[in-house]
Amino acid sequence: HRGLVGIAGLAPHEIMFLLDEAEQWVQLNRHAQKHRNLLAGLTIINAFFENSTRTLLSFEIAGKRLGADVVNMHAAQSSVKKGETLIDTAMTLNAMHADAIVIRHGSSGAVRLIAGKVDCPVLNAGDGQHEHPTQALLDALTIRHAKRAFNGLTVTICGDILHSRVARSNILCLTSLGADVRVCAPPALMPEAIEAMNVTPFHDFDAALAGADVVMMLRLQLERMQGQFIPSPREYRHLYGLTLDRLERAAPDALVMHPGPMNRGVEIDSNVADLVGRSLITRQVEMGVAIRMACLDVLTRKARGLEGWA
Ligand code: CP
Repeated sequence: HRGLVGIAGLAPHEIMFLLDEAEQWVQLNRHAQKHRNLLAGLTIINAFFENSTRTLLSFEIAGKRLGADVVNMHAAQSSVKKGETLIDTAMTLNAMHADAIVIRHGSSGAVRLIAGKVDCPVLNAGDGQHEHPTQALLDALTIRHAKRAFNGLTVTICGDILHSRVARSNILCLTSLGADVRVCAPPALMPEAIEAMNVTPFHDFDAALAGADVVMMLRLQLERMQGQFIPSPREYRHLYGLTLDRLERAAPDALVMHPGPMNRGVEIDSNVADLVGRSLITRQVEMGVAIRMACLDVLTRKARGLEGWA
């Protein structure tokens, strides 16, 4: 069984395959009747050890729209609180004959650890600072809908690059598909040797924005800071916040993205986040359901006696 631990494990044609598979679900989800029986009889467990709105709900909706039985395990209400280990929790879910397990965890590498121990595909819903592959796939699908091609596209990702699994997965995905990726962060929040990921680093946001086709904003991940010096929210907005004035520096038709949750008035102003025709933030959420439907379908094909993927 093959899971989805990261974009790092995917070839460019496999990324494109998942984007292509998601298109049918984009269309289905826009109709009143959204239900299919493709995954009828399958049990999908969403095990979330960190908070989530978008990822948890869209995985749940995705599984249900495909006809699977979906159950959610919130760590805060589970026996993890009584001292049960991650591996014992995973073995417990495995013994219930789950057909796919979706995991979000605060530790980088936790999802890979579990994937090696259970008998079904494991999908990474975000692990520490490592990867958030379905976020990168939904972002790529959103960009493809708006811009058609990745070649020649300049994408600027600005924010807490150091702690961001979204940035890491998006860098891997977008560079793999042929986009030019710029990353921008305060010095304390830029990973060392980031150039090795085939991106151009900036500390000056105005320079990073010049001529960009897509501007992807990230929040400060205050819960992951380990003593890094960061500016105050007011100072951060001054240096790295996306304002209407700043957006003028990007390409005339530049699009604005944010994976959420947003801190309005810090990394992005409300009048930019809500800019009709330019902000794709709610479109990203829409694409998230379609991408997760595609991933659940493709990754359970073997279990359903169908040919595995790619
Ligand atoms: N983008 C994202 O992962 O959001 P949630 O934390 O709400 O799932």
